[in-house]
Amino acid sequence: MRLFPFFSSLGLLLVMIISNGLDSPEPRLRSMANFPVGVAVSPQRLAQTDYAQIAGSEFSSITAENVMKPQYSWAAEREYDFSAGDSVVAFAENHNQQVHGHTLVWHMMQPKWLRESIDSYDSATLENLLRDYIHSVVKHYRGKVVSWDVVNEAIAAEGDGMRNSVYRQKLGDDYVARCHQYAREADPDVLLFYNDYSVATNPEKLKTILTMVDDFQARGIPIDGVGMQMHIGLDLSLDNFQYALDEIVKRNLKIHLSEVDIRTNPEGTAGMLTEEAAQQQQELMAEIVRLYQQIPEQNKFAITFWGLRDNESWLTQNTGNPQWPLLFDDNFSKKPMYQGFLDGLETGQTKLN
Ligand code: G3I
Repeated sequence: MRLFPFFSSLGLLLVMIISNGLDSPEPRLRSMANFPVGVAVSPQRLAQTDYAQIAGSEFSSITAENVMKPQYSWAAEREYDFSAGDSVVAFAENHNQQVHGHTLVWHMMQPKWLRESIDSYDSATLENLLRDYIHSVVKHYRGKVVSWDVVNEAIAAEGDGMRNSVYRQKLGDDYVARCHQYAREADPDVLLFYNDYSVATNPEKLKTILTMVDDFQARGIPIDGVGMQMHIGLDLSLDNFQYALDEIVKRNLKIHLSEVDIRTNPEGTAGMLTEEAAQQQQELMAEIVRLYQQIPEQNKFAITFWGLRDNESWLTQNTGNPQWPLLFDDNFSKKPMYQGFLDGLETGQTKLN
């Protein structure tokens, strides 16, 4: 038996262990989960060493929290600026991560020039501008972005019908379907998601979204998945969550838990994350991951957290209070919620076996 290959492999293994530190490698979310685990990032934060080390080692998917939205990419009617989005893509390429595109069309975070001009456009002009924007963005990121939230939050907040956004007013209810078609025209392979909030907490809104999905599928409008944002509290009904998972799986669509954060301070009276709240957050995280783990493989897309550290969460500004909603604390330390994610993977896998 030739011993050289054996000793050379052993030598390579030893080098790898030493170069990675003699201690056994810590578990990483991306290596423990059998689906992508994502985080919403910004170029500024990715430029910070500690942040980049964790974002790059723990996660296998990244979403630009803001810089791939129209406010940042749509510089003028037919002028586009992809520089910030490209920096997020570059980080992902350096860390073997997928990029989820967020978002092509949203009634919020429109560029200033568009906010100021949109009322002056007739429907045909706005349709042409929107189509050219979608074509340009999706073509630019083709092969670099695996999926897009095509239209974000097009359903009314309370779930009863379409949100009466300027796009709906000017282009009619069916603008969402046409945006999906434009994205598909630009990239035959990219996964197209409809993304919204309260999908797991508002049965009326879920019903409206499912009605739209059913209509898309009946008409051959391209759609590959639904993004359930999951901006939730400790009071999430797991029955409602399970029902939403089941209904989307029935339609054979991929499910992206696309913007996960778990508020722990709804009344705004807590001055710290209490042990009790941290434990509840850990247990809820475990249940969410367990139930997600148990959907069919072909319906899994990713679980993405809407930020890395508690202090970076949009919720602080949005609610006016700290919510401690994410996996890592202000010092980049893993919280019990992180352990909850691992617990959910284990119980979810056990139940599958
Ligand atoms: O970049 C400017 C900066 O130059 C300026 O000094 C600063 C002061 O106002 O504002 C900065 O822009 C802010 C931007 O985030 C980048 O930090 C905007 O004001 C602020 O409104 C914007 O908030 C983002 C929000 O979407 C926009 O509505 C949040 O970070 C982002 O987490 C949030 O994410 C959304 C998802 O896209 C869709 N689902 C809901 C989710 C939460 O609202």
